[in-house]
Amino acid sequence: MSIQQENRFQAIISHAKEYGFVFPSSEIYDGLSAVYDYGPYGSELKKNIRDYWWKSMTQMHENIVGIDAAIFMHPTTWKASGHVDNFSDPMIDNKDSKKRYRVDHLLEAHAEKLREIGEEKEADELLQIMDALLAKEDYAGLKKLIDDNKIACGISGTANWTDIRQFNLMFKTEFGAVASDNPDDNIVYLRPETAQGIFVNFLNVQKTARLKIPFGIAQVGKAFRNEIVARQFIFRMREFEQMEMQFFIRPGTQKEWYEYWKEERLKWHLSLGIPREKYQFHNHSKLAHYADAALDIEYQFPIGFKEVEGIHSRTDFDLGNHQKYSGKKLTYFDNEINQHYVPYVIETSIGLDRMFLLILSHSYDEETILKEDGSKDSRVVLRIPEKIAPIKLAVLPLVKKDGLPEIARSIVSDCRPYFKCFYEEKDAIGRRYRRQDAIGTPFCVTVDHQTKEDGTVTLRYRDTMQQERIHQDEIKNKLQHLLLF
Ligand code: GAP
Repeated sequence: MSIQQENRFQAIISHAKEYGFVFPSSEIYDGLSAVYDYGPYGSELKKNIRDYWWKSMTQMHENIVGIDAAIFMHPTTWKASGHVDNFSDPMIDNKDSKKRYRVDHLLEAHAEKLREIGEEKEADELLQIMDALLAKEDYAGLKKLIDDNKIACGISGTANWTDIRQFNLMFKTEFGAVASDNPDDNIVYLRPETAQGIFVNFLNVQKTARLKIPFGIAQVGKAFRNEIVARQFIFRMREFEQMEMQFFIRPGTQKEWYEYWKEERLKWHLSLGIPREKYQFHNHSKLAHYADAALDIEYQFPIGFKEVEGIHSRTDFDLGNHQKYSGKKLTYFDNEINQHYVPYVIETSIGLDRMFLLILSHSYDEETILKEDGSKDSRVVLRIPEKIAPIKLAVLPLVKKDGLPEIARSIVSDCRPYFKCFYEEKDAIGRRYRRQDAIGTPFCVTVDHQTKEDGTVTLRYRDTMQQERIHQDEIKNKLQHLLLF
């Protein structure tokens, strides 16, 4: 990461805290590593992203329905899904600092350093070799790669490494109050993905919603992973939220649906006005234990191109295994071809917190403004896509007397049932505009003395700072139109 990018990333983190978007969890106790809380504007923005995804999946697709499954699931779920045996990452410990690293992250960080000193070709080669070794699960080869490149621990500065080992990422906890001789009897896991709640409910949903293949089940909810290298703000957290959709299809049609969802999901990102060149697809060379094809949709964060969403062709792995472990049939009767089968699945899985970071990264702008008198001013503005902005309209009386607050309050009452409004009368109008810019409010309305005469107000646009006069009765309809889904 260049110093400029590092500074931008740090500026976004500070801004998120200063303006009530994201706080470190339990900060008064010095925080909890890789766990974060969302503040007043953050929780609003997060909810709007969640709603936007939910609406585009369930309301805009007549063959996709939603569910809300519990976080705790029967422990056998995770045996069947492969997470007990396979949900682990190759790790390596530095013997001097005792610090544990994910092997791929250690190598990627080294490749990044090579790029910073202009050794692009060497960086690409290193990552290619790494991908090939990961795909073969060749841990001795990966260890040799780390040794050969003399990669040192960031804390101890030494290259004194242990062998590479697997480390399971699931959190365990105890269920119920009954003590048992075998402690394993009471163990439940905090779900590491929301997908399994969909798979185990597959038949309940298909029957009750009377769905025919192809159809999808969508879910948003918390997931938990004991990430080893949990850093980079809300990019990699130990408690996070996923928005997942499992699309159930006829076996043999997975290639075409995989392509369909790859494009469909990219379109969703672009519908928020984020430029295409900020995205790239990354095909997996090392496939997860359940997939026959997989790719990441990557976004160019200030920390580089990184995964924001995964598209996975999960075959019949999950339903097949749940059928085996539960002893219950999970087949579908396809009356078009007169056959019973276990459906195949294409999954789209996006991290809500990561999408939130994407929106902040896309929106954050430090702008220099040339004023009419030739002098310069500056502002920090969050150019959040209007339809997901935490606050849509700020209504500001120019002064807090002469009946202007009353008019402003009546505008708020009129608009509040339709979109989120904010009222403020304190401070000079310029400072109030800056505060709204900083939290990404796309529209401000100012009520002044002319409003009393002819009913018009000033409508100010966040991105251009342009202003126009419109009648106060037009505000609601005009904004509803501009904020349309
Ligand atoms: N059900 C498939 C699945 O969970 P994944 O690639 O492991 O696949 C999907 O995760 C998405 O969840 C990722 O693209 C990312 O956006 C988000 N995600 C995964 N781990 C995360 C973490 N530790 N913190 C924040 N988001 C995470």
